[in-house]
Amino acid sequence: MMPVEEMKSLLKRRGREVEAYLATCLDGRDMPPRLKESMLYSLQAGGKRLRPTLCLSCAALCGLESHKALPFASAIEMIHTYSLIHDDLPAMDDDDLRRGKPSNHKAFDEATAILAGDGLLTDAFLIMCRAPLASDVLLRAVAELALAAGASGMVGGQEWDMIYTGRSQISLEELRGMHAMKTGALLRASCVCGGLLAGADQTALRALGDFGSALGVAFQIADDILDVVADTATLGKPAGSDAAQGKNTYPSLLGIEKSRELARAQAEAAQAALADFSGREADFLRASSRLFSIPSRDG
Ligand code: IPE
Ligand code: IPE
Ligand code: MG
Ligand code: MG
Ligand code: MG
Repeated sequence: MMPVEEMKSLLKRRGREVEAYLATCLDGRDMPPRLKESMLYSLQAGGKRLRPTLCLSCAALCGLESHKALPFASAIEMIHTYSLIHDDLPAMDDDDLRRGKPSNHKAFDEATAILAGDGLLTDAFLIMCRAPLASDVLLRAVAELALAAGASGMVGGQEWDMIYTGRSQISLEELRGMHAMKTGALLRASCVCGGLLAGADQTALRALGDFGSALGVAFQIADDILDVVADTATLGKPAGSDAAQGKNTYPSLLGIEKSRELARAQAEAAQAALADFSGREADFLRASSRLFSIPSRDG
């Protein structure tokens, strides 16, 4: 088992590689300066860089040198960042703080925030195409990511989230489906795409997909719990926002303790999915599923 400190230091190192790539990814491009500033503002605001790190780690697990997966992994972070900018808009969660800074629409304005999100999403596909890999390999990964990020994945999950907001009671099945789409799909694809870029076989891809799906659901349950138990300074985003907005979440449906149990069960399922893998990368992935899905008592 990998010690938590070693896991955190690898996470930090991979996060820095991604950040260095993101810092220059818009260089040399002709675009309105304020739009560029707004895109870079959110890209460079920090964040755990979990999705690109998972992609890099799954690629390495399947034998690819991590620099070959870096453009693709960084593009995943661009998509994730766009989803956060749009998620915070007044028409959605109406949150004014993100990653410890004013949300994009507060630092700039709503129109710029919408367009910065559009720019990050679209430009992500340009960046993905920079990966130094065979075009058939790249195309499969791009299709996988587009499916996960789009209307039958993350975007669709966000729509369910909005439809369910303010509804008195949704079923556990509906909640599970929404989580799998809005968060699970992109985490799953981050893992599967790492494997695809490395040319992994079907058995490995299935295992990475199961790992990413279970981690994704555990991660969103943990996020819902943290919204209740942690404070704004720790989260870098407004605590208590879900209750204020009338969101349907695991804690609102099942209470905190039952939610913790379910997050733990999903984290275990994630670890079990990688049972056939050994070595440092597999240990890292298993350790990250524990760290990110089991919130401590005080958040
Ligand atoms: C926040 O994602 C949105 C969810 C899907 C819960 P993260 O918790 O990964 O946010 P950052 O990237 O670290 O800011
Ligand atoms: C957002 O879920 C999931 C996305 C796809 C952006 P949340 O609305 O719970 O994310 P936070 O808590 O604002 O980061
Ligand atoms: Mg939301
Ligand atoms: Mg939100
Ligand atoms: Mg949340």
